[in-house]
Amino acid sequence: MGYRRDEMEQAEAHQAYNRKAMKAIRYMLREQRLVFVLVGIAIATLAFTLFSPSSSIRIQYNSDPLSEMRSSSSSSLAQQSRSRIEEYISMGSVGGRIPLGLKRKGLRVVVTGGAGFVGSHLVDRLMARGDKVIVVDNFFTGSKENVMHHFGNPNFELIRHDVVEPILLEVDHIYHLACPASPVHYKFNPVKTIKTNVVGTLNMLGLAKRVGARFLLTSTSEVYGDPLQHPQVETYWGNVNPIGVRSCYDEGKRTAETLAMDYHRGANVEVRIARIFNTYGPRMCIDDGRVVSNFVAQALRKEPLTVYGDGKQTRSFQFVSDLVEGLMRLMEGEHVGPFNLGNPGEFTMLELAKVVQETIDPNAKIEFRPNTEDDPHKRKPDITKAKELLGWEPKVALRQGLPLMVKDFRQRVFGDQNQEATSSSTE
Ligand SMILES: NC(=O)c1ccc[n+]([C@@H]2O[C@H](COP(=O)([O-])OP(=O)(O)OC[C@H]3O[C@@H](n4cnc5c(N)ncnc54)[C@H](O)[C@@H]3O)[C@@H](O)[C@H]2O)c1
Repeated sequence: MGYRRDEMEQAEAHQAYNRKAMKAIRYMLREQRLVFVLVGIAIATLAFTLFSPSSSIRIQYNSDPLSEMRSSSSSSLAQQSRSRIEEYISMGSVGGRIPLGLKRKGLRVVVTGGAGFVGSHLVDRLMARGDKVIVVDNFFTGSKENVMHHFGNPNFELIRHDVVEPILLEVDHIYHLACPASPVHYKFNPVKTIKTNVVGTLNMLGLAKRVGARFLLTSTSEVYGDPLQHPQVETYWGNVNPIGVRSCYDEGKRTAETLAMDYHRGANVEVRIARIFNTYGPRMCIDDGRVVSNFVAQALRKEPLTVYGDGKQTRSFQFVSDLVEGLMRLMEGEHVGPFNLGNPGEFTMLELAKVVQETIDPNAKIEFRPNTEDDPHKRKPDITKAKELLGWEPKVALRQGLPLMVKDFRQRVFGDQNQEATSSSTE
């Protein structure tokens, strides 16, 4: 009996539920209420798709990274990078936010040749503003001493690596300086010099393309060769001997510029090209054959200052802190270049010898030697373009900068521990 009563109650409840459902459906169908509900759902879906935080995450590549990796010769490298991209994409799709610990702080910058003269001063400036800096250097002409004051700083890394071999690093900016700069060094192994300029630059441009980094090439005033136009403007194509003893450097840098422009035009890599004129300052290699370092070291050692040819050939000399400022402005700016970065103040070799005598030893003698092959007669930058587009011009005069270099050289030549630490600051 009890069981039958339960069954009847259940049937009644079921009928009541059906009645309610029918009533609700009839209510929805009346006065086009269903249409309004559907339109409401559609609007909500659209708004969610447009304003969802995950949809605003975009990964910036100058080319399709996956297809590029497919073509990569190193399959394990490609696999690593692909899984990193997939990881990144999946992070975006989960909540649209990068976990706090992975947020980027400061720029990640690689400086090839960062243990050299110019590179180490550039590294000092980048570190001072809080960037994460990776120095890549094979120590051919550079040394650990130039950057060891950053050892132990978590923002600094030093990698012994030859740029002729590829390297994979996740960075935002690439300052590509790796290349011996003085004739003594670049003529030592000319085939290696041209390889560094061509293969090394190709590798670093490939890296820039792969990770979407901005790339700055430190080219040289040597691309103008023995110029037939004076002062040299960026539009001048130069007068270079393609088969001379300096060609490994001059033609190497010209090819490096070509490669940079082709990666820019063909693969959308953001490139910057600086054509650097003679630069001097603390941490230059002693006895590297460059005229300022030669004169300073000779005067300090009480040796005669060697002047090649008649000493009437001219050069312009830029203090290293001015150059570093120019390189950073170029990297941060919107212009590809090339830009001449140099000091337009022009000195003959004999005038320079006089300034060195005044600064170090008024009794220093001058000795004349036959001129070296392909030594350009005149060199003076026209820096109108850098002034207008980068708002840059050198600030340190030769007579101001030279004593700072002399202080550093004196310390290294004589090991004078009482001298203060070297600095590129002019203050
Ligand atoms: N100093 C100047 O007056 C001047 C003028 C024109 C252009 N530049 C350019 O500026 C850049 C820096 O010049 P610098 O005066 O500091 O010269 P540098 O010789 O002091 O520095 C060059 C650095 O590159 C490193 N290097 C060389 N070959 C390498 C390779 N294959 N792989 C990795 N590292 C390598 C060296 O060990 C060194 O640390 C160079 O590209 C040079 O051509 C300099």
